[in-house]
Amino acid sequence: MKILFISSEVAPFSKTGGLGDVAGALPAALASLGHDVKVVTPRYRDLRGASRLTPTGQSLVVRFPSGEASGPILSTRLSENLEILFLENASLYGNRDGLYGDAWGEFGDNARRFAYLSVGALQAAQRLRFAPDIIHANDWQTGLVPVSLQTGFRHTALSGAKSVFTIHNLAYQGQFPKGAMDELGLPWDLFTAEGGLEFYDTLNFLKGGLVFSDALTTVSPTYAREIQEPEQGYGLDGLLRRRAHRLHGILNGIDTHEWDPQTDSVLPARFGPRELEGKAACKRELLKRFGLPDGDAPVFAIVSRLAWQKGMDLLLNVLPTALQADIRFVGIGSGEGPLEDGLRALQARYPQQVSVHLGFDPALSHLVEAGADFFLMPSRYEPCGLNQMYSLRYGTVPIVRATGGLVDTVEGGLEGTGVLFEAFHPAALLAAIRRALALYADAPRLTEFRRRGMEKDFSWSASARKYEAVYADLLAE
Ligand code: ADP
Ligand code: GLC
Repeated sequence: MKILFISSEVAPFSKTGGLGDVAGALPAALASLGHDVKVVTPRYRDLRGASRLTPTGQSLVVRFPSGEASGPILSTRLSENLEILFLENASLYGNRDGLYGDAWGEFGDNARRFAYLSVGALQAAQRLRFAPDIIHANDWQTGLVPVSLQTGFRHTALSGAKSVFTIHNLAYQGQFPKGAMDELGLPWDLFTAEGGLEFYDTLNFLKGGLVFSDALTTVSPTYAREIQEPEQGYGLDGLLRRRAHRLHGILNGIDTHEWDPQTDSVLPARFGPRELEGKAACKRELLKRFGLPDGDAPVFAIVSRLAWQKGMDLLLNVLPTALQADIRFVGIGSGEGPLEDGLRALQARYPQQVSVHLGFDPALSHLVEAGADFFLMPSRYEPCGLNQMYSLRYGTVPIVRATGGLVDTVEGGLEGTGVLFEAFHPAALLAAIRRALALYADAPRLTEFRRRGMEKDFSWSASARKYEAVYADLLAE
């Protein structure tokens, strides 16, 4: 099959979270199944590996009523059948820090920026004479892809393609004042609640993706069920229930080359399920890097966007109690100011036990995964979550709230791989931390937990086959 895959972030080039990881890995997994895959993404200013980009000689022009936007298409070929296409435009992507916003908040022209990505991706396929069978869009930033396929591109060669839309996070919807309909030149007959883009009198990009795509997927089976209920449905659960026959929950995989404790070059020592000794050296290095005293106390860790979703407020609430025990806490995180302040204050109050790095640091996150004993994910909701899988692979026992993809990847119980808790409540999280301490005190049992986790297979190949099956079913319709 020919697959056009569109994402606002693609690791390693750009990443703010798991979407980048998935858009970096899934297309590669599909390409290794033999499909011809092109990924389209913006050319942001600070791209990792950007030196390898070459011009395709093609450019595109998107005519918005508020003025046209144009720019060249750059490319890098990662394998014979995997090419990443970058849409370059200095004023939309190049001349700023951040992908979606900066210290001042969300960028004010995000509707235009991601309309350009959505329409531009389809134009890029035309310009490069790539006739996809499947057009696969991701999250609100590409919600106008399926909309455009049924409007502006309706009578083009692309209209024969089937569209797939993946929900990585239903809470982020790309809602804009309805005046954006005119600015983007979207036909007003699409501005309806039933079968259209209207959502409480705003323009909702994500809804466009959900309404107009041939198939919908989300990133775990449990989340696929949760988003059909009001609590996790963010106002779109009714629509998702109506489209349930089109909605598939497919668990994300992880990049098992990037995340492999037996080969990871960031680590001071390597280790595997049958030779765990190297993990102790990683723990020593971790404590050193975070400026904490060496010792045998269990290390609890986070690597997270500091956002409401992640339950970091709950964690901040219980840590002063948990720190009465002889434990260490290390974290890497960036995001909401009050949560950053909370972590800073905790470090100031417990300098011998707590150390945090406020920022985004992928290399350091490998050391944290390898050196920690326990990894905390007290999420309010979690569509899939990748860090718990990285933790399992690195022999670090995850402590997770039983929600979304965390339920589908971490096994609780005496013979499990991690510690799960149900209620989003301080007492429930504290009880989970207490269970973790009991596990830590029982070295043979802890080793068994680690081994079971490390031996789980979270590679992309199984998930890529499931996407392939969704695509094949659409093409057979
Ligand atoms: P989400 O996409 O909701 O943030 P995921 O668990 O799916 O959650 O993915 C998060 C990804 O971003 C992981 O690869 C994680 O390691 C990475 N990450 C998050 N915050 C940081 C940070 N401060 N520094 C480095 N990596 C981070
Ligand atoms: C979103 C979700 C996260 C998921 C990631 C990749 O950012 O919050 O749970 O793992 O997308 O699908």
